[in-house]
Amino acid sequence: KKVVLAYSGGLDTSIILKWLQTTYGCEVVTFTADLGQGEELEPARQKALLLGIKEENIFIEDLREEFVRDYVFPMFRANAEYEGVYLLGTSIARPLISKKQIEIAEKVGADAVAHGATGKGNDQVRFELAYYALKPDVTVIAPWREWDLLSRTKLIEFAEQHQIPIAKDKRGEAPFSVDANLLHTSSEGKVLEDPADEVPDYVYSRTIGPEEAPDEPTVITIGFEEGDPVSIDGEKLSPASMLEHLNQLGRENGIGRLDLVENRFVGMKSRGMYETPGGTILITAHRAIESITLDRGAAHLKDELMPRYAELIYNGFWFSPERELLQGLIDKSQEFVTGEVRLKLYKGNVIVIGRTSPFSLYDQDLVTFEEGAVAYDHRDAEGFIKLNALRLRTLAQRKKRLGG
Ligand code: ARG
Ligand code: SIN
Repeated sequence: KKVVLAYSGGLDTSIILKWLQTTYGCEVVTFTADLGQGEELEPARQKALLLGIKEENIFIEDLREEFVRDYVFPMFRANAEYEGVYLLGTSIARPLISKKQIEIAEKVGADAVAHGATGKGNDQVRFELAYYALKPDVTVIAPWREWDLLSRTKLIEFAEQHQIPIAKDKRGEAPFSVDANLLHTSSEGKVLEDPADEVPDYVYSRTIGPEEAPDEPTVITIGFEEGDPVSIDGEKLSPASMLEHLNQLGRENGIGRLDLVENRFVGMKSRGMYETPGGTILITAHRAIESITLDRGAAHLKDELMPRYAELIYNGFWFSPERELLQGLIDKSQEFVTGEVRLKLYKGNVIVIGRTSPFSLYDQDLVTFEEGAVAYDHRDAEGFIKLNALRLRTLAQRKKRLGG
């Protein structure tokens, strides 16, 4: 029996690795992905070797470009925000990791996959819905739901028994749980659990505080093509390097911090802190380029569907027909979303200061307060308003009749 484990190289997934070997007696294949979490991958390979994984059973892949090009950017075309604010940094990474795990499972002839998400969160759902969607007969192993290593002491004991190296700072309880990739870093649990208490400074890892940001604004121009960002200040950038650059600009200007209480799919509320520096710049810029290139009907329809689309991603339904149908609609809407947006980044704020597009629908002649536009006759407005007012007047007359 073979199982493909989503392996970070950290203590928890190393314990899972050993547990799979000892409890299930199965051959473990590890998969470590670089999604821009900012950790070296070689140590994960060394650690896997040390834990007895055969060289040919260790898979390591740099997924940064694919992650941003095929997951992050398509999602940003929709301006997706869960519950109005969360930019879905963890949610959007899970389908890609799952897809790669299944690909590896097919390649090495494994019938099982395993992940390190707990039994209380969203991530278990996201991983497993994707596994089943891509390999309906797969066996899923979720150690956190099965084992009896339910305290830190027990975990450390298990690690010691099995010669798993434990970094000094990992012996005690972790102060909070972190998930990171190119799009965001999320922190949850422990010191963050009471939503009444402010997030301590040391939890932030990829932005400076707005208070510490420079007194001078940074002005940048982002170029878009068909809804995706392609350049900063005229310099063409690949999807991953685009997001890296925006992250750097966001970091320096204290942009993208979010303290949120959200509704998990499994039913409970949870408090998290997110840092999405580049994504926060991107969504504002994208809305600005859409503001001149999208028709009102198209824009409003997109905005109505957005919460639905965001919820699908949050709940783990990336590989579902309804998400794909919505994606088709969203992608189609981006045909003319091309042009440039000028932004001012200043102490936590992203301020739009200009937008241009060869496909702009903005008609200065039409909108001007000065004399202009033959296409618009002021007199037409009178009838337009009167007909729209018709039912309001009827209602008001009834009210009057009834003595209201
Ligand atoms: N609550 C976020 C989500 O469901 C992040 C979950 C993972 N974060 C973590 N720190 N373990 O998308
Ligand atoms: C976890 O429970 O593994 C992380 C949090 C979540 O999935 O919501």
